[in-house]
Amino acid sequence: MVYLNGDFIAKNKASISVMDRGFLFGDGVYEVIPVYNGKIFRLTEHLDRLQNSLDSIQITNPYSHDEWHNILTKLSGFSSESDQSLYLQITRGVDSQRKHNFDTLTPTVYIESNPLIAKTKSQLEAGFSALTREDIRWHRCDIKSTSLLANILYAQEAKQHQVEEMILSRNNKITEGATSNVFILKGNALFTHPTGPNILSGITRDLVISSAKACNLDIQEIPFSLNDIHQADGLWISSSTREIMPITLLDDQPINQGSIHPAWSCVYEQYQLLKND
Ligand code: PDD
Repeated sequence: MVYLNGDFIAKNKASISVMDRGFLFGDGVYEVIPVYNGKIFRLTEHLDRLQNSLDSIQITNPYSHDEWHNILTKLSGFSSESDQSLYLQITRGVDSQRKHNFDTLTPTVYIESNPLIAKTKSQLEAGFSALTREDIRWHRCDIKSTSLLANILYAQEAKQHQVEEMILSRNNKITEGATSNVFILKGNALFTHPTGPNILSGITRDLVISSAKACNLDIQEIPFSLNDIHQADGLWISSSTREIMPITLLDDQPINQGSIHPAWSCVYEQYQLLKND
């Protein structure tokens, strides 16, 4: 079952017009929202970010907070999975002709749910690999846009190299991963790129920060370099679907001699508490 423009229908019955600007231009925004134990996780934070994305591209939010809550709750109720990942996207809508500029249209709303299978702690403790690349994306990475050409090329390269993530840098400063935020641990300090136009303000990023504070880590929202990563005691990535994942091999070089610092375990446990509250 999926949601399309007011209807709950079978996925193979859902279709949109070829004149939808999402199809023609990637003219839309999206969110990925976890559901844990049947409960939507941090809905307000996701809807606030969605509102920012919509405002940035001049699409009027078609629904109120309560309407979103009702639609998402109903859709997730069709699935028997207790943990799900809700994907929702809003495009500018169906135009009468293909043109770059736009008039006010009726937005197209599509939502689907997929099972969310979080990695176990011991799976995460095995550590993951990543590669670094120049960040070639545009300068509005704070908008969660469906226009993701650069990100999908990075994801494909990661798949070809059998690594978990591509870690991106702009002017020798690490911005984020192709589909995640990035943290380094140095002594008692946890560094991550500040929010702004160069990164997506991850909901998990904020939760990692509050979890890290509970572990008495000192949060430093300042940019760091590739060289800083190689001197670090830990390298982690975060996203709604991956939670907090330790990277132990970067560009074929071990981070912290390939071992995971105990601070990761503390932050991981704090994060699990948030999921269950
Ligand atoms: N991606 N940065 C980028 C570029 C991302 O694509 C994502 C998430 C994040 C982390 O955001 P959050 O913690 O709110 O999930 C950071 C999602 C999962 C996706 O595109 O599927």
